[in-house]
Amino acid sequence: MKLLVCGGAGFIGSTFIKNFLKNNLHDSILNLDNLAIGSNLKNLESLKNNSNYSFIKDDIKNQYTINKLVKDSDVIVNFAAESHVDRSIANPKPFIDTNILGTYSLLEATRTYDKQFIHISTDEIYGDAYGQSSFNENSQINPSNPYAATKAAADHLVASYHKTYGINCITTRCTNNFGPNQFPEKLIPKTIIRIIKNLKIPLYGDGTQIRSWIYVYDHVHAIESLITKGTSGQVYNITAYEEITNKSIVEKILDILGKPYSMIEYVGDRPGHDKRYSIDSSKIEKEIGWKPKYKFDDALKQTVEWYLQNKSWWDPLIDENTLHPQPWTIK
Ligand SMILES: NC(=O)c1ccc[n+]([C@@H]2O[C@H](COP(=O)([O-])OP(=O)(O)OC[C@H]3O[C@@H](n4cnc5c(N)ncnc54)[C@H](O)[C@@H]3O)[C@@H](O)[C@H]2O)c1
Repeated sequence: MKLLVCGGAGFIGSTFIKNFLKNNLHDSILNLDNLAIGSNLKNLESLKNNSNYSFIKDDIKNQYTINKLVKDSDVIVNFAAESHVDRSIANPKPFIDTNILGTYSLLEATRTYDKQFIHISTDEIYGDAYGQSSFNENSQINPSNPYAATKAAADHLVASYHKTYGINCITTRCTNNFGPNQFPEKLIPKTIIRIIKNLKIPLYGDGTQIRSWIYVYDHVHAIESLITKGTSGQVYNITAYEEITNKSIVEKILDILGKPYSMIEYVGDRPGHDKRYSIDSSKIEKEIGWKPKYKFDDALKQTVEWYLQNKSWWDPLIDENTLHPQPWTIK
């Protein structure tokens, strides 16, 4: 099987590629990534002598290249996205371009050449679950910020291409991921790095926002299973049912590193900040037999250890936003 993986130089995509090639020795992957924010080819250094892996620097919006590469692949797995909510609030335009128009060009190629398309979406498209039961795949789509809205638009496009043109596709909606190689601007790596550097930890609002977390290895295993076992046209939620407040996450990391809670600094809240994300993933468990393997506390300890051992990976990526984040202001 030949896979075209888009956005494979990012956090989840690179983890997917390494794990997939380890588990499927006779398959090959071409990774297309435009090396935007969040990407890092160092994530894939271990594959430099693997003849089943290759890389091309290009953009998913480039219909000409996408057509050529899709034609020559069996499966397209799209991780490529603008993925940071804060950036989408400051400037939604790149999110509209990549997350909507990029998905459109992949869908056009998929329908032209009749391939399988795996669309990696997010639980954020359901919006705030505060005071409600967990969302399932049939729940209303109700995004609260530009990132989530562009991902939701892409989900609708994928569904429409299945209904209208009969394309072979699967959509996944996963909760918050964490693990090695996550870009320093996201909550868990940012907290670890700031503690290592003895800097205060900024927390939005009162820190009681609840997110549901999954170790990235559980997420990529679910995607790998869906390629062969999923049903075309279906949506699958993916969660490890680990719902935790942002404050509690930061406190857990402070505990692991033996630092005081007085390092927490409360800053202005993010506009449109959802209070809780919560999804139900019994569908993938029943239909595919996938289940998360990792417990949050163990996986968090492994992640902290990875950042302690891999300063050379994250140190060159540190920017102003990681070192000197300001209380929230819309630019
Ligand atoms: N991180 C999470 O917690 C999470 C949870 C659920 C779903 N997702 C989804 O998973 C996917 C991957 O997320 P991530 O956290 O690995 O993000 P990431 O930002 O680490 O990686 C995204 C990758 O896409 C590439 N990219 C961006 N625009 C591109 C373009 N126009 N053409 C080609 N490549 C482009 C970037 O260079 C980067 O390598 C995204 O679609 C995201 O919406 C993420």
